[in-house]
Amino acid sequence: MLKNKKIVLGITGGIAAYKAAELTRAFIKAGAEVKVIMTQSATEFITPLTLRTLSKNPVYTGMFESGEPYDMAHIALAEWADAFVIAPATGNVIGKIASGIADDLLTTTLMAQNKPTLICPAMNDKMLANPFVQENLRKLAGAGYRVMQSGVGELACNVTGPGRLPEIPEILDELEALFTVQDFAGQKVLVTAGPTQEPLDPVRYITNHSSGKMGYALAKAAHQRGAKVTLISGPTKIAPPKVETVIFVRTAQEMHRAVMDACSKASVIIKAAAVADYRPRVAAGEKIKKDRGLPGIELVRNPDIIADIGAKKNKGILVGFAMETQDLLANARQKMIRKNMDMIIANNLRDEGAGFEGDTNIITILDRLGRTVALDKMTKQEAAHRILDHIRSFKAKKGPAGKK
Ligand code: PMT
Repeated sequence: MLKNKKIVLGITGGIAAYKAAELTRAFIKAGAEVKVIMTQSATEFITPLTLRTLSKNPVYTGMFESGEPYDMAHIALAEWADAFVIAPATGNVIGKIASGIADDLLTTTLMAQNKPTLICPAMNDKMLANPFVQENLRKLAGAGYRVMQSGVGELACNVTGPGRLPEIPEILDELEALFTVQDFAGQKVLVTAGPTQEPLDPVRYITNHSSGKMGYALAKAAHQRGAKVTLISGPTKIAPPKVETVIFVRTAQEMHRAVMDACSKASVIIKAAAVADYRPRVAAGEKIKKDRGLPGIELVRNPDIIADIGAKKNKGILVGFAMETQDLLANARQKMIRKNMDMIIANNLRDEGAGFEGDTNIITILDRLGRTVALDKMTKQEAAHRILDHIRSFKAKKGPAGKK
């Protein structure tokens, strides 16, 4: 998506400026061309030479540099760019942009442009919490800038808290979002992902092979398309995408509680999680010892989360998944009707490149309008977008609330 895109990276003076080198590489690796503007204080943290070498383009540091007349550089960069990324964005530059101040090349260029712009704040936790900084961030978001939340963790000032520059893959995701049509703006999307774990004792549990990749791809795609996303995830080994809310659960019962709490606010609910249908009736408090002989495990049914949502009167658009090993479409269709879903995504564990763990899936989308759309093998990220496309068209055919 970033192939051949022209990105102006604005670097301002915070310790995270050193990460701009890695960010420049990541943009270029994704196929973008990068030109860098640095504020004077940014040049104290990282040299223009580093950025020039990595971007293979001149680096702009001042209004009155030799080479280009000052009154043209900001216009030329504003026209050249497809998008602007300010990373790290200090409280100072955030305040200047929000107040309409243009007193150096970066802020002058920003004032002279109307391209999609991503702000990646990074600063000390107290500076970030400052009410004026918060108000300025809200102002920028309200004016159409895409404003990332800072990461939480160890800061250069030896405290732990919010204020870190968001991780580079997260910035890439948000940059892609700048080029993504915002057709889910105003939607609240609830996604479940990953497996559940049903404990037998403190060291053992019953689970399945779900990695969370399909659900995370859906959460990321919906977020990039402008939705407010709540992701409810079972235990996974991969980092969740940066969305509005991430809730981690372990068992099917915990997932049931979290989903039932959140689902009434959602306009779209997508259940990609592989929920265990059964759990051990009792989870032993201590490790089960093998010298006591082979224990019988009594299983009891877990709540059927999607069926419980389906039974609600005013549910949003309800999308389930069906993981089958035989009679894929017939079983999926039955499941969709029995559990009152609007749509179901069928995937067959037996197909090479489909289902658990891999980066690809082969899906067939079935809906209550009687449509069946079989898709070829594609990345889970692409599949996620195709599912969202289908949800859009389903909603359009069913009216704004998508009600039957
Ligand atoms: O996570 P990955 O490694 O990327 O793998 C993706 C996936 C294979 C897990 C995903 O594509 C998928 O198929 N998820 C659903 C798997 C599944 O549990 O299918 P099912 O046919 O057993 O369940 C049908 C639907 O009911 C699902 O939407 C499921 O979330 C839901 N369900 C199931 C049981 C239960 N107790 N409560 C539920 O809500």
